[in-house]
Amino acid sequence: MNLDSGRGNRGPASALIAAPIELGGLLLANRLVSAPMAGVSDRAFRRLVRESGAALAFPEMVSDKALLFGNEKTQAMARPYPGEDPFVLQLLGREPDTLAAAARLVVERFGARMVDVNMGCPAPKVVRNGEGAALLRDPSLCAAIIERVSRVVPVPVSCKIRLGWEEPIAARLVKTLAEAGAAFVTVHARLKTDSYSTPADWSALAEVVASSPIPVVGNGDVLRPGDASRLLLETGCQAVMVGRGCLGNPWIFERALRLARTGDPGPPPGPSEVVETALRHLALTAADKGEPRAVLEMRKHGAWYLRGLPGASAVRASLMRARTVAEVTALLRGYLEILPRESGLGGGRFRRD
Ligand SMILES: Cc1cc2nc3c(=O)[nH]c(=O)nc-3n(C[C@H](O)[C@H](O)[C@H](O)COP(=O)(O)O)c2cc1C
Repeated sequence: MNLDSGRGNRGPASALIAAPIELGGLLLANRLVSAPMAGVSDRAFRRLVRESGAALAFPEMVSDKALLFGNEKTQAMARPYPGEDPFVLQLLGREPDTLAAAARLVVERFGARMVDVNMGCPAPKVVRNGEGAALLRDPSLCAAIIERVSRVVPVPVSCKIRLGWEEPIAARLVKTLAEAGAAFVTVHARLKTDSYSTPADWSALAEVVASSPIPVVGNGDVLRPGDASRLLLETGCQAVMVGRGCLGNPWIFERALRLARTGDPGPPPGPSEVVETALRHLALTAADKGEPRAVLEMRKHGAWYLRGLPGASAVRASLMRARTVAEVTALLRGYLEILPRESGLGGGRFRRD
C-alpha cells in the first residue's frame, strides 16, 4: 500500500484523493472525510457517507462537561454505530482538565480511536462560553489543552481550527499545536468573522500547509465531486473534509472517488435513487432514535435530498406536516409517481450536479 503521511502530496492530478493515507496513526482507505456537523452527522448520516466512500466520518461535536455529567442525550450522541471503524469523536470545551477527562471517557467507554478538539465553532453561545472559535484568541490555552489531552489518552489527538478569529493566525497556531502534541489538524479555510458567503480561502490554507509540521486536513467549499481533488492539489493538504457538500448528497464521496479513478464522476443520482436513499436515512434514524425524532429530522434532511429536483418544493412543504414514517414514505414515493408527468423525466436521470 502506498502510504503518504508527509507533506507535499503532488501525485498525478486527482488520483491522489483515492489513495490511502495514514493520518496521525489512523489508517484511512482514502483522503475523503465527512465533517462534524451538529444536528446532522449522527449515526444514520455517518453510515450513509461511509457507505458512499468517505474514509472517516466525524460525529457532531459533544460537550466535555455534558459527557462528564452523564447527560443522557450527550452519551447517546457519543456512541458509534455497530461496526463503525474508525470511530472518532470531537469534543467541545475550554478547560484542559475536563477535556482530558472527557477524552479518556470517550476512548475507554466508546472506543474512540482519535479525539478531536473543536477550536472553530463560531456559534455565539459557544464563543461566549470561551469554547470553539474563542480558543483561537488564546494559543497558549490551545497548547495546554492539546498537551493535557494527549497525555491522558493512548490515541491521536487532533484539532479543528479556522484560519483565525479576524486575522489569519493558523500557520503559527498549527506549529504551536504540533509542539503540544497534535497528531494532525483540520483547517476550515475561513476566519471566525467570515460567513459562508465569503469563499473559503484556499490560498491561505496552502500557506498553512506549506509550513505545517503535521498533516493538514483541508476544509471549506468542497461542494462538488471535482472540488475534492482540486483542494488537495491546490493546497497540498493531506486529506479533504466535506461539510455542506454532503448534506442530502452522500453521493459526493463515491463520485469524487470515481472521478479520481476513471476521470469521470458518473451521472448524478436520479430522483428514484435520491428518494430511496432518503427513505433509508429515515429508516436508519427511526431505528436509532425512534419514529417521532426521525420524522422531525427528515424535515431538514428531506429538504436537502430534494434540492434541485423538479417540482420538489410542494413535497418539501408537505414534509413539514408529516407525522409518521408511513406518511413520509407515501409522500416521497408519491412524488416519484407524479414526476414523469410534471417534468417528462421520470425516476431516471435528472439531478443537480
Ligand atoms: C449544520 C452544520 C453544523 C456544523 N457543526 C460543526 C461541529 O459540530 N463541529 C465543527 O467542528 N464544525 C461544525 N461545522 C462546520 C463544518 O464542519 C465545516 O467546517 C464547514 O461547514 C465548512 O466546510 P464546508 O464548506 O465543506 O461546508 C458545522 C457546519 C454545518 C453546516
